Amino acid sequence: MELKLKCCTIRSWRSGDEESLVRHANNYKIWRNVRDRFPHPYTMQDARAWIEHARYEEPKTNFAIVVDGAAVGGIGLVLQTDIYRRSAEIGYWLGEEFWGRGIASEAVRTFTEWAFDNFDLCRIYAGVLEWNPASMRVLEKAGFQFEARLRKGVTKEGKTMDDFLYSVVRE
Ligand SMILES: CC(C)(COP(=O)(O)OP(=O)(O)OC[C@H]1O[C@@H](n2cnc3c(N)ncnc32)[C@H](O)[C@@H]1OP(=O)(O)O)[C@@H](O)C(=O)NCCC(=O)NCCS
Repeated sequence: MELKLKCCTIRSWRSGDEESLVRHANNYKIWRNVRDRFPHPYTMQDARAWIEHARYEEPKTNFAIVVDGAAVGGIGLVLQTDIYRRSAEIGYWLGEEFWGRGIASEAVRTFTEWAFDNFDLCRIYAGVLEWNPASMRVLEKAGFQFEARLRKGVTKEGKTMDDFLYSVVRE
């Protein structure tokens, strides 16, 4: 998979991405806005395990965001199951030195279209921590709509706060 965009490329994770992955993912400012399962500190061993997982998972749902040839972020889907099987959660992060250039907004918009075209989905959603307005803005710019504020829906770093739910649907 390879999507060439204006600001970046989204492509499959490859062996060789490990060093860049550690360099950009090992960042407290990223970790504090994502799931606890995202490692912190982010080690070479974490990077190897992640790339191995992403290369061989089936179907492939996790991809690298590449700028100037280096894998500097990640974007992916968690496909839901059972009665939620036509829904998927989207997740993404970008290395701090690339923030503020519109990269995530473009990546989320294009990747969402790709996901609708390549999976039997009618809903893609994201939950954003109350303290993360940049990600809410990314979703808005990528065509998602604010849907709900799940009161005290999430706990991060010992703080329980509201979870902001955004979604986009396709018939
Ligand atoms: C969220 C994240 C992906 C944004 O990446 P990015 O490439 O900088 O995003 P963009 O440049 O496309 O857009 C960011 C928007 O947020 C805005 N923004 C940034 N900080 C903000 C703040 N504190 N309050 C309000 N808006 C803010 C920017 O101004 C920009 O909007 P604009 O184009 O209207 O000016 C990146 O900061 C990141 O990886 N954060 C840590 C991980 C994370 O939060 N992942 C998402 C979990 S839901």
